[in-house]
Amino acid sequence: MRKPFVAGNWKMNTDTHASVDLSKRIAIGSSEVAGHSVTVAVCPPFTYLQSVIKALSASHIAVGAQDVYFESNGAFTGEISTSMLKDIGCTYVLCGHSERRHVIGETDELINKKAAAAIAGGLLPILCVGELLTERDAGQTEQVVSRQLKKGLSGLSAEKVSAVTIAYEPVWAIGTGRTATPQQVQEAHNFIRKQLAQMYDDMLAEETRILYGGSVKPANAENLMNQDDVDGLLVGGASLNADDFLAIIRAAI
Ligand code: PGA
Repeated sequence: MRKPFVAGNWKMNTDTHASVDLSKRIAIGSSEVAGHSVTVAVCPPFTYLQSVIKALSASHIAVGAQDVYFESNGAFTGEISTSMLKDIGCTYVLCGHSERRHVIGETDELINKKAAAAIAGGLLPILCVGELLTERDAGQTEQVVSRQLKKGLSGLSAEKVSAVTIAYEPVWAIGTGRTATPQQVQEAHNFIRKQLAQMYDDMLAEETRILYGGSVKPANAENLMNQDDVDGLLVGGASLNADDFLAIIRAAI
């Protein structure tokens, strides 16, 4: 069965002290509330990855980066490669987060290169997909999510895709306080699982963890987790507060 997975996306937040302090609180609390029964990861900004990895070294909590570049090294000013992330002890990497798609302008093609490079480099990508409000209102949710999945995973075999976690994050629900309803989430997740079965096979679709993200809070986490095809949660704002993040981890058991 799919083990529940809760990941915190700290985005461009925290500083040296706050990142270590938050990590330590989550480490202590998460072994108390969930032991090994939930996969827990945090994704701090690049600058704090090493100090967070050190602070979490005795815990079960994995660390992910929020982005990666697809080239392995060279003249790419400002970029970070998969081997650099592996070198310091990262496990996961977010690929195609909606802020990178819609604020920074990343395309499906670029996201595909990043996901492929991450897998080749031994990182576990969390591929984020999700529609804009205008797309949902126009009845295009499935079309958009299907395109993001197909292009994002283009050229990758089932074996490679077994390293991938999918995160469904409707853009209109991110940071807005407007969570998708459990029914909307279940529909989208079920659609994603069926797409994976079509693109690959039933076994891969059954084994792939699909997380929901978008204004997840302690108050709505359990209802979301109760949906059949929701295997975990990708948490932004609420992951910056240790108590809230721990309550969400508890709800995921
Ligand atoms: P939010 O962000 O929980 O603050 O809505 C979720 C995300 O962007 O991953």
